[in-house]
Amino acid sequence: MAAKTLLILPGDGIGIEVTAQVRRIIDWMAKRRNVAFEITDGLIGGAAYDAHGTPLPDATIAAAHKADAVLLGAVGGPQYDDLPFDKKPERGLLGIRKQMGLFANLRPAVVFDALVDASTLKPEVVSGLDIMIVRELTGGIYFGEPRGIETLPDGQRKGVNTLTYTTEEIRRIGRVAFDLARKRNGKVCSVDKANVLECTILWREEMIKLHQEEYTDIELSHMYVDNAAMQLVRNPKQFDVVVTTNMFGDILSDCAAMLTGSLGMLPSASLGATDAKGRRPALYEPVHGSAPDIAGKDMANPLATVMSFAMCLRYSFDMAEDADLIENAVKAVLKGGLRTADIMQPGKAKVSTSVMGEAIVRELDKMV
Ligand code: IPM
Ligand code: MG
Repeated sequence: MAAKTLLILPGDGIGIEVTAQVRRIIDWMAKRRNVAFEITDGLIGGAAYDAHGTPLPDATIAAAHKADAVLLGAVGGPQYDDLPFDKKPERGLLGIRKQMGLFANLRPAVVFDALVDASTLKPEVVSGLDIMIVRELTGGIYFGEPRGIETLPDGQRKGVNTLTYTTEEIRRIGRVAFDLARKRNGKVCSVDKANVLECTILWREEMIKLHQEEYTDIELSHMYVDNAAMQLVRNPKQFDVVVTTNMFGDILSDCAAMLTGSLGMLPSASLGATDAKGRRPALYEPVHGSAPDIAGKDMANPLATVMSFAMCLRYSFDMAEDADLIENAVKAVLKGGLRTADIMQPGKAKVSTSVMGEAIVRELDKMV
């Protein structure tokens, strides 16, 4: 079998510390599971700007196209705030998503039993929660044209962004959501703002059509995004799969993350279309950002990144058993009472990023 190739892009801030914990797991897998990954490193975001004057060097894109999968840390930091728009670290992230064609972003929000009390919501509201947010990732207002800031004849300035979706863009993300629901609890809630935005009237119409044509076994419902935000904190367990536009998905997934106790707990997978050779472009990253305030302090929660790697094993390498091992190791470490600062609770042991990483490897050792 050909070696499995993984490109690691640590990025900025805590991205460096959290991806380093995945390396420990990869080393462990080589030793104890006899799985060899061929790892390459690359630069993205502010780190790439510092080295090469661009947040997305051509070499990074070339390496991303070559690898079977990409694992990304996070991008951004206050030292880059004054850069021109096209040099900002976030352009690197949006650029790689677009150039790899990663239109489907899967953001599962799962509440572990050990962390039920870490949520700001009541335990009965979140215990056992397991929902999947499917965010469209390469279209919508993030990429629509025209865009920009212009100066009007009277000297005022005007900012413009455009929300667009085509039939095909809607249908392909819809299929991802319906297919996932088939493997879960058979329910999809499509979130839009069809009471106001024509673009999302089309979104709703196409979701309904696709459902009738190919997925009548799935229960499809629709919700306006403002109501969805409210329902996510009122009664999140009513959802199974939520499918929505790029920007609504960005916002709702941060909201869903907090149901799990911390933004530091949410992994994600971004997937493209499978090509004729059966290859599917894929990038895995934690939902959280670069957290400049705690960067370099060995304080960040590495679990979202560790679980993103588990998603990578599941979706890119068809290694469900190893993915389960990693997820179970995470559960065991939490059950054992170890907590990074963001999920610290009374009576638990506060540990650093690296101690958390070591503890996961120790748990893995006990499991095989
Ligand atoms: C996310 C982030 C990004 C986004 C930023 C960093 C560009 O918030 O992945 O959710 O808006 O997509
Ligand atoms: Mg976001």
